[in-house]
Amino acid sequence: MQISSTLALKSDLVRSLELIQKSCEENEEALASPSNSFWEQKNSGSYYTPSDACDFFWNQFFLLKDINSKEKAAAFLSRATFIEPSVGAGMFLFSLLKKIFSLGCSLDDAKNIQIHMYDINSNALSFVKERYNALKKQYGSHFGVWKFHHKDYLSANLPKLKDRYIVFVGNPPFIRNKPEAKWKNSFANFFEASYLYAEQAVDVAFIVPLSFNFSRDYAALRNRVLADKSTVFSVNFDNIPDCIFKSGKINSINTNKANSQRCSMVFAFKDGRARIYATELIKWPASERSRVFSSTPRYFNCSKILNFDQIPRPFSSDIAEYASTSAKSIRFSSLFCTSGCKLLNVATVARNYISIRETETNNCHSIAFDNEKAFFVGLAILSSDVFFEYWKTFGDGFHLTKADIYNFPISAELLDWAKEISPYTRKVWAKRLKYKKEKLNAGVVSVSYDLRGLFDFWSKDLAKSESTSTATRKHAVNDQFDAFMKELGYAGGKA
Ligand SMILES: C[S@@+](CC[C@H](N)C(=O)[O-])C[C@H]1O[C@@H](n2cnc3c(N)ncnc32)[C@H](O)[C@@H]1O
Repeated sequence: MQISSTLALKSDLVRSLELIQKSCEENEEALASPSNSFWEQKNSGSYYTPSDACDFFWNQFFLLKDINSKEKAAAFLSRATFIEPSVGAGMFLFSLLKKIFSLGCSLDDAKNIQIHMYDINSNALSFVKERYNALKKQYGSHFGVWKFHHKDYLSANLPKLKDRYIVFVGNPPFIRNKPEAKWKNSFANFFEASYLYAEQAVDVAFIVPLSFNFSRDYAALRNRVLADKSTVFSVNFDNIPDCIFKSGKINSINTNKANSQRCSMVFAFKDGRARIYATELIKWPASERSRVFSSTPRYFNCSKILNFDQIPRPFSSDIAEYASTSAKSIRFSSLFCTSGCKLLNVATVARNYISIRETETNNCHSIAFDNEKAFFVGLAILSSDVFFEYWKTFGDGFHLTKADIYNFPISAELLDWAKEISPYTRKVWAKRLKYKKEKLNAGVVSVSYDLRGLFDFWSKDLAKSESTSTATRKHAVNDQFDAFMKELGYAGGKA
């Protein structure tokens, strides 16, 4: 009887929190811009996180901290203080409550929660307060200490909480800063202010633009976190076909009104363990959304991927391994790209393959090789699965830059393979019309060659079995979950 009433209360609490999350989503436009103006929303960076993405965020946070039982969750709540620097409608807080009750925590456990939240938008803070009060009224419990600060987070005096473990969570505003500012975008100010808040161990778990991982604009911020030997987990989300945000852009005249920002969930734990784990750039159609946000992505260990000045987005375990071991290999530029006369034209944009062009145009890189022999070795390397996966891992997802090509590390094995298959590469090139693709761009037809699948270095030794194809490797389910948890120092196994 006792057990069934506890279960009933738990499902009732979860249901109530789901309804609050729904109301956060429904009220986004009204809260983000009381005057119903796109500019008001944009200037305050008010694009709220949808409930499924926020639930995913907490699932990952708890998983990565190995909090997989009500006992561990209750212990964590009793020593942690959560700071939400830009709370909006409070989605992160209501989703946190849902997570702890789903894990089996009681109302008594919830009494230990301590939260400080900030926002410059008083309507948003009132909205959160109303829902918090309604919960208290409904359940006759106080859900811990919630402090509402109607302040600019970046100039506020943050509370001194020396005896608490501080967890900064949220989706800070992405607003373009003035040209003279330290960071190009305001999310970096929020990240820095939180990360540097105190000497003590803190966690900063934020949704940030994808470019945090690779842009030179944020290199100093990344390097600061990595120099501290912090643990960083980066989960990366593309924006096509679907994207994290489901709405946004008030009064937009575009058919697609969603804020299509590519984002990462970055979990930075100041624990001195010097670990970097990252996922590939996850892309999914809208029909797959619920699967993506209810499962655990595959994390690749990138701790040994050095010399690239990035947090990579590994496309496969092969490329993570390759980049880890070949950081000191010679780069493409030192082998090729001389002043030779045999040109290989490679398109400056890519998506599903590296596009080789017939002729030199504005939108391609023309790479000069000394002779035909070098040309065919270079062609095999740039058309290989290794180079494509390297670009998916380190590139920005659209552009293939000269630096992407020139900095590509060539392992001794890859070079030997490319030399060995030169007669084959020559034949493919002679028959390239078979792989021709034409595209009309601003009235001009561009001709390119799609050599996908013809230069698979990683399957070279495999007995051409379907089950070991590149595609199978890439889309393999996360069957290494236990190994991953063990690698993190946990016992392993799903909770
Ligand atoms: C991207 S929204 C995120 C809201 C909420 N964290 C979520 O994920 O749904 C950013 C929020 O930051 C608030 N904001 C903008 N500048 C701020 C500042 N300087 N200090 C505190 N809040 C700010 C906006 O009013 C908005 O509510």
